[in-house]
Amino acid sequence: MPTVAFISPKGGVGKTTAALLLASEVARGAKVTVIDADPNHPIHAWSRGATLPENLSVVANVDEDNILDRVEEAAAQTPFVIVDLEGTAAKIVLLAVSQADLVIIPMQGSQLDAEQAGRAIKVLKQHEKMTGRAVPFGVLLTRTSPIIRTRTMGHIQSGLNDAGVPVFTTQLHEREAFRAIFSFQKTLEDLDEKDVPNLDKAIVNAEQFAVEVIERLRQGRNATATKTEMA
Ligand SMILES: Nc1ncnc2c1ncn2[C@@H]1O[C@H](COP(=O)(O)OP(=O)(O)OP(=O)(O)O)[C@@H](O)[C@H]1O
Ligand SMILES: [Mg+2]
Repeated sequence: MPTVAFISPKGGVGKTTAALLLASEVARGAKVTVIDADPNHPIHAWSRGATLPENLSVVANVDEDNILDRVEEAAAQTPFVIVDLEGTAAKIVLLAVSQADLVIIPMQGSQLDAEQAGRAIKVLKQHEKMTGRAVPFGVLLTRTSPIIRTRTMGHIQSGLNDAGVPVFTTQLHEREAFRAIFSFQKTLEDLDEKDVPNLDKAIVNAEQFAVEVIERLRQGRNATATKTEMA
């Protein structure tokens, strides 16, 4: 029953977009609940206008007082739970992390964003100190160019690698289709290619992202199983 949380103290880095893309991809094969823990409720608002995939449900009105219960209830009902949070470093992030099997830290390619991603990683380290449990995580580079790799991006990527920070191989590219899911209130697959340029490429990109997330969840589970066997 994996729970995946999207966190970052910085607003606008692509948490909600990545969370919804992942949820929609997972929903093609398994039941998934999105816990929309952002007080602005972007995914809940999307879901009210959308024809929801059968496998996808959205839970809103989540705050730090009830998030642990909401995640527990969701995990009892669907095999996948995805938590979207607002851009903050508040206590609710620590609570969400405590329930997560994988934390994804979306980040855009600037030095300032890299510093903010560092703050998110600190929250994970703090959580590990408090609980003795390290939560697997990865930085997801978002809104990158599908064509060119900028010098800044190259510099940031090598900085992350040198610091031993796990970075997803898949990057979510800057794509009109990733905005269109919100404006048309549809999943990528339901969008019309006449309305959205490069929809096919966006779909491939989202699929690659979901495949990599599932692979990382598997690795995390195997690592936990090995530890338990050794104990
Ligand atoms: N890969 C992408 N391609 C194109 N546009 C994107 C992409 N990712 C995010 N955006 C756009 O960037 C803006 C911010 O994205 P999003 O809402 O996903 O960020 P967020 O981290 O959830 O923000 P907040 O912290 O405010 O919740 C939105 O307008 C969204 O449509
Ligand atoms: Mg958001």
